[in-house]
Amino acid sequence: MINEKFSKIGFVLAMAGSAVGLGNAWKFPTMVGNNGGSAFIILYLLLTFAIAFVAFLAELSIGKLGESDIVSSLYKLAPKNKKAWSLSGFFMIGAILIASFYMVVIGWILKYIYLSFSPLLSDTKAAGEQFNTLLSNDLNSAVLCFSLVFLMVFFAVSKGVKSGIEKLNIWMMPSLFVLLVCMLFYALSMGDGFVKAAKFLFVPNFSAITPDVVLQALGLAFFSLSMGVGVIPTYAANLPERTNLIKSTLSIIFINILIGIMMGLVVFTFIFAYGADSTASGPGLIFISLVTLFAKLGVVGNVMAVAFFISLLFAGITSAVSMIEPFAYYLVRKFEISRKMALLYIGAFVYILGIFCILSYYSDTSSAFSVCGKPFFDALDFLTSNIMMPIGAIVFSFFVGYKLKKESLYLLFGEFMGRAFFEIWYFFLRYVVPVAICAIMIYQMAGK
Ligand code: PHE
Repeated sequence: MINEKFSKIGFVLAMAGSAVGLGNAWKFPTMVGNNGGSAFIILYLLLTFAIAFVAFLAELSIGKLGESDIVSSLYKLAPKNKKAWSLSGFFMIGAILIASFYMVVIGWILKYIYLSFSPLLSDTKAAGEQFNTLLSNDLNSAVLCFSLVFLMVFFAVSKGVKSGIEKLNIWMMPSLFVLLVCMLFYALSMGDGFVKAAKFLFVPNFSAITPDVVLQALGLAFFSLSMGVGVIPTYAANLPERTNLIKSTLSIIFINILIGIMMGLVVFTFIFAYGADSTASGPGLIFISLVTLFAKLGVVGNVMAVAFFISLLFAGITSAVSMIEPFAYYLVRKFEISRKMALLYIGAFVYILGIFCILSYYSDTSSAFSVCGKPFFDALDFLTSNIMMPIGAIVFSFFVGYKLKKESLYLLFGEFMGRAFFEIWYFFLRYVVPVAICAIMIYQMAGK
């Protein structure tokens, strides 16, 4: 099973499935809403192409040239200090850490699918209380929903790359798209709200762009493209021969942006149509604002809510699956254990951390589960998104830019991009990417 590779479309969909997730549905609209709309999108696109795209190709090359799990690929490819380089493969632990709190959020989504079958709360205050109760007082629901999501994700990964991950994505990604298109049509019918949402998303307001916003946009670009934690090299190791790497990467980025914008249009149409607060942050935007808006639409609202939360469930599960695969792939290859065994170890770890995350929001236990004054959940999110992912991305880009032979990279990418573009990419990889990520991280540390 381990040598089964993706099909061409399977790879693009699996990578897009990994990229498109809660990041697009929750972080993207929230950040756009808080940072002045379309100017943020333009900045995000710029950073995606100038930095994330460049680093993405670097990560792809590690997987494609190494053709193994990330640790062994780095070992194989490093010209010197093989052991030290291979250790940097353990940034993939970041993906496992993300999985634990990410699946807790997917658990909330599951609970909201259930809630959407009965009348929803139309009062923002009551809806807010309902959401807070789930987090801080309803331990049973939180644990049950998390456990169900956990089982679904691990079941899919246990089937392997082709029969599990590829099948799941081939089915879920188009369904997500169709559901979103239906919601978009519905949003279109809301006339005024849709026009306001489109204006908000597409008419730029550059005065909102501050250095802090640049940092947030870059963080989002990394998070939403699943970078720096070994997902890309692992999936790339299972690439079919003769895949056009540039075309595939561009398709993945395009799908990621398209779904983010579609989500943004849907969310903001509802928000504007009913005059809710477009700057509500975090989960509040989806679990509180949107729910109260759906409630105003009666039964149609219930149908929309079910469709919306199911599409989020799909998006989340395909991402969660990709977070587990790198470490599973590593354990299976390195220790020659069965996939099921590897998943048992990883599962125990992820499950315990997930429960810690839940307990860190639960009122009776929250004080015992806080780290540096933050709930364990937020601490994990901060550690992974703001520290591990950017450092991982720098290390991998540095490795490819300075340790791999330029010619072997040209052999890999040249036929798809030509010499001139290759030189530009290589220049960005060596000089622009590390400087930009470092500058942004230093700014962030100095500022907070
Ligand atoms: N890209 C995913 C999202 O946008 C999150 C993710 C991060 C997936 C890291 C895999 C690895 O939600």
